Amino acid sequence: MNIWKPLVLILPVIVVTTGVVYADRDEREGEGRGWFSSFRLDVAPVTDPLYQEECGACHFAYQPGLLPERSWQKMMTQLDDHFGDNAELVEAKRQQIEAYLGTNAADHANYKRSKGFARSIKADEIVLRITDTLYFKRKHDEVPARLVTGNKDVGSYSHCAACHTDAAKGSYNEHEVRIPGVGRWDD
Ligand code: HEC
Ligand code: HEC
Repeated sequence: MNIWKPLVLILPVIVVTTGVVYADRDEREGEGRGWFSSFRLDVAPVTDPLYQEECGACHFAYQPGLLPERSWQKMMTQLDDHFGDNAELVEAKRQQIEAYLGTNAADHANYKRSKGFARSIKADEIVLRITDTLYFKRKHDEVPARLVTGNKDVGSYSHCAACHTDAAKGSYNEHEVRIPGVGRWDD
């Protein structure tokens, strides 16, 4: 019997299935960039001046679309112990910021990377650090520690804008990365 015949018949099936699986994986990782990708931001930029002022006072004002609503909610109810700092706000401001974060959170935003962050967290889990999400870890697992914690001009991953030159605009494209003391990121 000719063994090639059945193979030729199932080959297109294999190709199509693999294509579908890969396309699905790309979508889940927020990777699938179309030809118009350069016009598309990774996450929505910060638009609320109060948020920018209050939550950008000690560090980069992280975009709401980097964490799901339940993370922001939890964070906003324990500001007196905010990663070891006191970041308390008067109640009116606290509520306004909590609403802004909730509405624009990763699980409500129509941006691929926001979806990537949100989907990488288990439904019954509340992650408070962007840098603790699976999505974040996956995106940075090829960056050696000496360029981050071992780099005095970076210090930690929490300083997004130290490496991502357009982070404040909501763009985290790997081609815009410039690591202090190292320069461009070419992988
Ligand atoms: C008084 C200073 C201060 C203020 C004000 C402040 N933070 Fe922070 N925040 C910190 C510190 C300190 C850390 C921990 C940073 C580190 O580990 O390097 C942190 C970490 C974070 C992280 C985790 C970043 C990561 O590693 O993924 C988020 C998210 C965050 N802050 C959000 C907020 C929000 C939202 C507000 C406004 C309600 C706010 N912060 C206001 C000091 C502050
Ligand atoms: C030490 C420098 C550094 C810091 C700090 C850093 N990143 Fe990155 N980031 C990188 C590099 C390098 C890449 C590309 C990695 C690769 O391609 O393997 C990357 C990739 C990404 C990507 C995927 C981009 C793409 O085009 O695939 C996202 C999203 C991202 N970073 C978000 C963040 C956020 C949010 C923060 C802060 C909480 C942050 N990064 C902090 C260096 C950094």
